[in-house]
Amino acid sequence: MSIGSKLYYFDEIDSTNEFAKKIIGEAKDGTVILADTQTAGKGRLERTWYSPEGGIYMSIILFTDKPLMIPILASVAICETFYNNYDILLGIKWPNDLLLNDKKVAGILVEMVDLAIIMGLGINLNIAEFPEELQNTASSIFLETRKKLDKMMVVNDLFREIEKVYQLLQKGETGEILQKWRHYTIMFGKKVIIETPTGTISGKVIDIAGNGALVLSLPEGRIEKVLAGDCRIIKENKASL
Ligand code: BTN
Repeated sequence: MSIGSKLYYFDEIDSTNEFAKKIIGEAKDGTVILADTQTAGKGRLERTWYSPEGGIYMSIILFTDKPLMIPILASVAICETFYNNYDILLGIKWPNDLLLNDKKVAGILVEMVDLAIIMGLGINLNIAEFPEELQNTASSIFLETRKKLDKMMVVNDLFREIEKVYQLLQKGETGEILQKWRHYTIMFGKKVIIETPTGTISGKVIDIAGNGALVLSLPEGRIEKVLAGDCRIIKENKASL
């Protein structure tokens, strides 16, 4: 297995995750679908993903028996790519967002088809402007740092960093991946409201569990682990992001 040893490249596609679903039957571990733009980029929770020229839109097909770790793996690999190679420190917002100066610059959409995992990564690299409705919450690496990075170099760095973390996962060294996640996250100590599939929960973030669940301390002192949901961080009495 090597990330990107089989690569499908498109200048334009509807969605790299949707293309991955079409080829998954014959795909090998580490197959990558990469596009310059998407006409129907998908975000989490049925949202759309703004996908103009300048961003990185990539899906990677993985075969692992630890699917719950994939969002953690992807967040860590994106952070390591920008920190190790470009000295840019991104923050991980649970479950799937990467922030720079409090704005979202990358997102992760993980989908499962039978035993295969499609790890979709959207990175706002060199995007120079966003539609008005996204401007408060979204940004790009370029807008936040004024550095225009070479896209294919970043893609290659990503392949290398994903491969390193994926090897840790396949060897069962999840503790090391979680340590890296703890290093990059901005969640600890924050008060959050999480809309889960079974209801809303609110508390203070104290850790990440071995299965990728966020560990919350609730006002009444109870500890609760949340596996999935839409998370808002409460700031100075108002909700943000
Ligand atoms: C999110 O934060 O809501 C997740 C965004 C994921 C976007 C990426 S871009 C490449 C891949 N193909 C898609 O249609 N979506 C993911």
